[in-house]
Amino acid sequence: MAGGMYFFQKATAATTSPSAAEGPFYPQRSMRKDDSDNDLVKIANHVNEAGGEIIWLKRQVVDKNGKALSGLHVEIWQCDINGVYFHSGDSRSGEHDNAFQGFGHDITDDSGQYQFRTIKPAKYTGRAPHVHVKVCTEHKELLTTQLYIKNHPDNRNDSIFKRLTKTQANAVSIVIPDEGEEPIATIDIKLP
Ligand SMILES: [Fe+2]
Repeated sequence: MAGGMYFFQKATAATTSPSAAEGPFYPQRSMRKDDSDNDLVKIANHVNEAGGEIIWLKRQVVDKNGKALSGLHVEIWQCDINGVYFHSGDSRSGEHDNAFQGFGHDITDDSGQYQFRTIKPAKYTGRAPHVHVKVCTEHKELLTTQLYIKNHPDNRNDSIFKRLTKTQANAVSIVIPDEGEEPIATIDIKLP
């Protein structure tokens, strides 16, 4: 519904994305798979696609005035469908879904757009489902944050999420439409 969508866009644009801890599982360059593109579901030369519900995550990186920012690196990382990070520090790596890329990156285009094909954030012990996001230039980190599923029941018990104000929470909450294959969740990342 156009009305509802418009409201969501306005709410998202109203505040900058709150920064959040990087967490212990940011994959350093040496840990990443050779394939670190923006499709985390499909690894080059792998026959199988990752387990989980496939979603697209996309929209714009903007500055605090809403101006689109092109040429920025957007990185995401998240656990696989088994709740395991592709990271040597995650002790449960035996159960890792080898078809999931775990980390991906994209570069914003001329209109500030980024996009990822990934899985719906999976259940993870001790946290609400989430996706980590980092935005950088070639040389400098601009923002590290985490995205959540709007109204997910685990959000209210999440130690990081529950410190957010309602406006901040809205700025990092995605809505995954119920219908269609590979639904698109849209969220602007607004730099401080
Ligand atoms: Fe995490």
